[in-house]
Amino acid sequence: MNKSDTSNTNKLIDRFGRQVTYVRLSVTDRCDFRCQYCMSENMQFLPRQKLLTLEELASVGKTFASLGVNKIRITGGEPLVRKNIIWLFEQLGQMEQIKDLTLTTNGSQLHKYAENLKSAGVTRINISIDSLKDNRFKDITRTGNLNQVLKGIDSAIAAGFNKIKLNTVIMKNHNHDEIIDLVDFAIERNIDISFIEEMPLGIIDSHARDKTFYSSDKVRHDIETKYSLTSSNKNTAGPSKYYAINNSDSSVGFISPHSHNFCESCNRVRVTAEGRLLLCLGQEHSVDLRDIIRRHPGDFEKLRSSLIAAMDLKPESHEFNVNIEPVILRHMNMTGG
Ligand code: GTP
Ligand code: 5AD
Ligand code: SF4
Repeated sequence: MNKSDTSNTNKLIDRFGRQVTYVRLSVTDRCDFRCQYCMSENMQFLPRQKLLTLEELASVGKTFASLGVNKIRITGGEPLVRKNIIWLFEQLGQMEQIKDLTLTTNGSQLHKYAENLKSAGVTRINISIDSLKDNRFKDITRTGNLNQVLKGIDSAIAAGFNKIKLNTVIMKNHNHDEIIDLVDFAIERNIDISFIEEMPLGIIDSHARDKTFYSSDKVRHDIETKYSLTSSNKNTAGPSKYYAINNSDSSVGFISPHSHNFCESCNRVRVTAEGRLLLCLGQEHSVDLRDIIRRHPGDFEKLRSSLIAAMDLKPESHEFNVNIEPVILRHMNMTGG
């Protein structure tokens, strides 16, 4: 397709023929936790004026929706610590083109907001939980309180979302001995769980990432000591490879950016808390949407054509290596994963 065609297109298609239908919007870099693999203990957060306003976020969502995006996931930091965030969910929830409005959260505020989120049109929620042991949970998150998160999970189940998924980052010698307990926990509640390989995003001060690496294949092997798994075709338009856990209503997913590359089917882009459109989680290619929005206020067409043009920057794949210093200096709280 040549350049003159792209301005008329209603879709976001990159140089490799992949269509972007899924956007992850980070609404804040702030978080009430300081998970070891995500942040360093003392983080500098962005001054508020650098964040996209909620109105700007809503218009970014609307523009993407007009370009064939049908799934938006709200991420952070911790999205629910942003003031008036429910307003944004309500705006996005009203957009007809958005079939799947989802949230990734650490669960700390869910006991307050689960019902509001459901009423606003949120379809699914992913909740991070890396340990079921009080002290260890505190150790990994530095500031988190396990009981509050457990209460949040209960509230989300009670609110009746289509699907709830737990996310666990497994780190050797930190929590790899809890894999079965976490799977049991999910099965007892009829919810799903994904195990994530730690990614080298941002410099952290707590551990060397090559020492804690625990592959998805090992996690699967550990689960299979107790449960039999059947490979499933389930596709949430995310990178997880899912397996049904036999004799249960739960699935287990594996997100394996190191051991199983899923870039060829990548259908997503991200917007960071400061409005940078990132074309790949593992690369730095980006476009400053905040600058475009603030230089051309209310100019929907300008934003639209910038998004279409940005597709040419989407790289073919990510490059992660736990054995070298991170090349990606952004921490996960900037991109929301
Ligand atoms: P669905 O998209 O709804 O399936 O959820 P998800 O599991 O992708 O989203 P979630 O926010 O729960 O993220 C779980 C983990 O997947 C996080 O650690 C993300 O960083 C990781 N992840 C999501 N998308 C990508 C991606 O495109 N590339 C890489 N490398 N990791 C990703
Ligand atoms: N590697 C892998 N997953 C991470 N997360 C945060 N930082 C990292 C990292 N460096 C996870 C969180 C949450 C999801 C959004 O990303 O635990 O589940
Ligand atoms: Fe907060 Fe999530 Fe990062 Fe933990 S992983 S510090 S909960 S943004």
